[in-house]
This record gives sequence, structure tokens and C-alpha cells, in this order.
Amino acid sequence: MESAHSHRKDEHLALAEAQQRQATLVSSLDQVRIIPNGLPESSVAKVNLTSTDSKFPFEAPFYIEAMTGGSRKTGSINEKLAMAARETNIAMAVGSQSIALKDPSVAETFTIARKTNPAGFLIANIGAGHNLADAQAAIDMIDANALEVHINVAQEIVMPEGDRDFIWQAELAEIIQKVSVPVIIKEVGFGMSQQTIQTLANLGAQYINLGGRSGTNFARIEDRRNRELDAEHAYLYDWGLTTAESLLEAQKIVQRPTIFATGGIQSPLDVLKAQILGARAVGVAGHFLHTVLTTDTAGLISEIERWQYHLAKLYALTGAEDYSDLANVEYVLSSELLNFAQQR
Ligand SMILES: Cc1cc2nc3c(=O)[nH]c(=O)nc-3n(C[C@H](O)[C@H](O)[C@H](O)COP(=O)(O)O)c2cc1C
Repeated sequence: MESAHSHRKDEHLALAEAQQRQATLVSSLDQVRIIPNGLPESSVAKVNLTSTDSKFPFEAPFYIEAMTGGSRKTGSINEKLAMAARETNIAMAVGSQSIALKDPSVAETFTIARKTNPAGFLIANIGAGHNLADAQAAIDMIDANALEVHINVAQEIVMPEGDRDFIWQAELAEIIQKVSVPVIIKEVGFGMSQQTIQTLANLGAQYINLGGRSGTNFARIEDRRNRELDAEHAYLYDWGLTTAESLLEAQKIVQRPTIFATGGIQSPLDVLKAQILGARAVGVAGHFLHTVLTTDTAGLISEIERWQYHLAKLYALTGAEDYSDLANVEYVLSSELLNFAQQR
């Protein structure tokens, strides 16, 4: 019999997959249109997708974002995701390891990722509210190359058994300063404002994943888990900033940390647009989960390889050879997004 916490992991998985299957997700990056360049003087063969960031030396600017581990089922998905990451040489984050800190018997549902991909770039994951010792234990558990600490106030608020205290900043600062690997502070789908980004920067954060709305929606997921009252928090389903809005917020900060994005990345074009708006790398959760659940590991490997090739073609389409060239790509915003940007 698995614990209530393990059961929650399986429920998240099933409900996130249901959102993908409904195929009603519309990426907020659809509100950004790239101005085409008919004479780009470029060549696909010359495109270099490698990240120039010394702490995140990714071969491709997208990675498998934090989702699984903590139950038998999600442990086996971690194994499949790790196989796909190994075969395509992309980075991968595991889901929150707090469950394994409480119950070491489920640690193997996370360590399977390292066992499967011994030389890969693996990212540990833990929620804000944990202390330095927990954060370092999560890193050590999977011999991680980096740590994500997720901030998720809105998710906790909707979750029936969620936290109700959010005194996080001092511990976040200590974790950022003292753990043995680089730290990314990450939202789970409610986005970040300029103020949040600035506060995190003041705490010492050098890497921030804006984690915006328009993809997997945890307000809806947590509300569906609450069987007693139907859609109790329906008024919060649009809470937060979209991924596109969050990227525009980050642009306003002069000395900003390195920005990553996640939330509603459904295609290589979404990766490109997020990068044009300033994301150094992009996490993909729901779409890759759906791919592995419907087409297994081989299908996910093909999908990732397809994204890598298509992204190289898209760089050439816009005249870019590498990330630094994307700063020259022109774009226009939808009137709604422009209105947002002007009011901010
Ligand atoms: C099934 C599932 C479980 C998740 N669990 C975690 C988690 O444990 N920690 C975390 O930081 N984010 C978690 N996330 C959030 C994702 O990492 C990501 O931020 C979010 O799903 C938005 O990306 P997407 O639209 O590509 O799915 C989870 C997402 C899914 C779909």
C-alpha cells in the first residue's frame, strides 16, 4: 500500500496528462509573432544550439522539466525519461524529492534517474520551505549537477493539504549560498513579476525559471484532487502571469539573473520564442510526459531529436547561428500582450 503522498504524485500525473489530452492548452507564446527574414544568409549546418553558460553547458536549450518520482509508477517514468535524456544528451530534472526525504524507501524512484544516466546532467528538485540540509540531501541523493527549488504559493493555497505559511526567503538565501551546485529558483506555472525576480536576485539567485501560466495548470489539478467540492477554486484558474508575460517582466530588470522559462512549451517554435524573449534555456514538462505515456521511451527519443533538428532549422530561418544572435530577431506582441507590457 503506497502512502497518501505517493498517491498524490500519481494523481498529479493522471490529471496533468488529462490536461494534455484535452489539447486545449494554448501557449502564451502564440501572442508573440516573429518578423520573418527572407534573406537570412544562414545555414542550418552552422547553427550551434549549445548553451554558453558555464554552469549549465547544455547541448540543446531545452530539457525535461521536474515531474516524477515518489511512487512506483512515477519512478518507472523517471527511468524512461532518464533513458531518453541519456540517448539525446539533454538535461533532466526529477520531481520534488521531499517525499523521499520523509520516506527513504521511495528514494530509489529518484536515484533510478542517476543509475540510468550516470554521466547525464541531472537537476534535483525540492520545494521552498525546506532547509539547507534537506536541499543538500536532495542533491546528494541523485548526485545532481544542479538544484531547482520550486516556489508554488498558489498551488499550496489550492491544495487541500497544502502549506499555509510562506516564510521562505531566509532559507532560500542560505540554500543559494551554501549548497554544492548551482541553484535555480523555479515557479510551477504561476509566473513571476519584476518584484519577485528582483527579490530573488537580492537573495542571491543567479538562475531563475519563471515558470509561467499557459501550460500545465496546478490550480486546476489541485482543485480536481479535492473530490468533496467541485471546482472550489475556479476563480484562481487564471491566477498569475503567463510565460510570455513573465519573460516581458524579466526584460525590465537591468542586472537580471540568468532566466529560464517553462510553462506551455509545446513545440520547437515555443522554445525559439521564449529564447528570443530572453530565456537561456526552456523546461518542458507536460508535453514530454504526454509523449512518453503515449509513445514510450522510443517515441520520446524521436520527439526530442525532432525538436533538436527543428530548432536548428528555426534558428536558420531567423538568421541566427547561436543564442547571442537571437537578440537581433524582431518580433511583435499581440495587442493584449502589448497592453500588459505598457501597463507595467
Ligand atoms: C505530473 C507533474 C508533476 C510535477 N511535479 C513537479 C515537482 O515535483 N516540482 C516542480 O518544481 N515542478 C513540478 N511540476 C511542474 C513542471 O516542472 C512545470 O513547471 C509545469 O508543469 C509547467 O510546464 P509544462 O506546461 O511544460 O507542463 C510538475 C508537472 C507535472 C506535469
